[in-house]
Amino acid sequence: MDFGAGLTNQIARLARAGYFTSSVSNLNSLRALAHVTDTSASLEWRVRSYLAANCSQCHQPGGHVGGGWNANITASAGIVNGSLNSNGGDPQNRVVVPGDLVHSMMLTRISTRGAGQMPPLATSVLDTNAIALLRAWITNDLPSFETSSQWQQRLFGATNAPNAAPDFDADGDLAPNLTEFVAGTNPLDANDVWRVSISGGAGQAVLQIAQPANRAFEVQETASIGVPSVWKFLDVPANRPSYPAIARQVNISQSVTNGLQKFYRVKLSEP
Ligand code: HEC
Repeated sequence: MDFGAGLTNQIARLARAGYFTSSVSNLNSLRALAHVTDTSASLEWRVRSYLAANCSQCHQPGGHVGGGWNANITASAGIVNGSLNSNGGDPQNRVVVPGDLVHSMMLTRISTRGAGQMPPLATSVLDTNAIALLRAWITNDLPSFETSSQWQQRLFGATNAPNAAPDFDADGDLAPNLTEFVAGTNPLDANDVWRVSISGGAGQAVLQIAQPANRAFEVQETASIGVPSVWKFLDVPANRPSYPAIARQVNISQSVTNGLQKFYRVKLSEP
């Protein structure tokens, strides 16, 4: 945000102005919502950002609506094939149906003004960018979306197959199934694996991270991997969470001191 004195981190600025009772740290670890039209962010992240910003004040557990789907950014639920309290007279309607614009009530509700419109208050104009975004998500993204159970079913034949367990390494490439699921690699092909590499130079280490599309990474560091080890978030701008539309390579340079050990680990996560 620019409050008149140049670009600054909004949370840091609010903290300096005394708005928080406790101090804020690890500012680079905070997720920023993506704007509806920011095509550098994945469709899913933009949709979830839009729902969090425009709908979550009512659509969340304990919210105004009571029950139903949840627009909360960290706990969204009940959206894909989610059941409705009012199906609008068509039993095939769901909150959102993959590949089906007609039966996706979320789309129907934001595409109308008047009775049944969403959001219900303070708007008389259609948000055409949001409508286009939701249509694209339903049509282009959702038909190929898989839950981890569907993924286990497809690759191992059953969710409870012995080699389908999340922490099992079915192909012996040192990446457990859960990592392969999140990274989008093949759990049955030892050559298809997500890895992080690091290269060193004079006083410098460069972490090389292959960031898959629609996946955030988080680098943590520690001086010792003894037990117990204390990992802390690497608080640099390059480590800010993001869910890119397309896969990309991210390099993070760190200055290192000769003779001092340092360890890094990288966490990968879905939106
Ligand atoms: C001010 C509170 C409020 C906001 C903000 C809001 N809604 Fe709602 N929403 C409601 C209420 C109340 C209902 C139940 C009444 C109804 O069905 O119209 C509802 C119902 C719905 C339903 C039908 C749910 C069902 O189970 O039948 C959908 C879909 C929906 N809203 C989508 C949205 C979307 C998408 C947004 C954000 C763009 C949004 N709403 C924002 C209050 C809100």
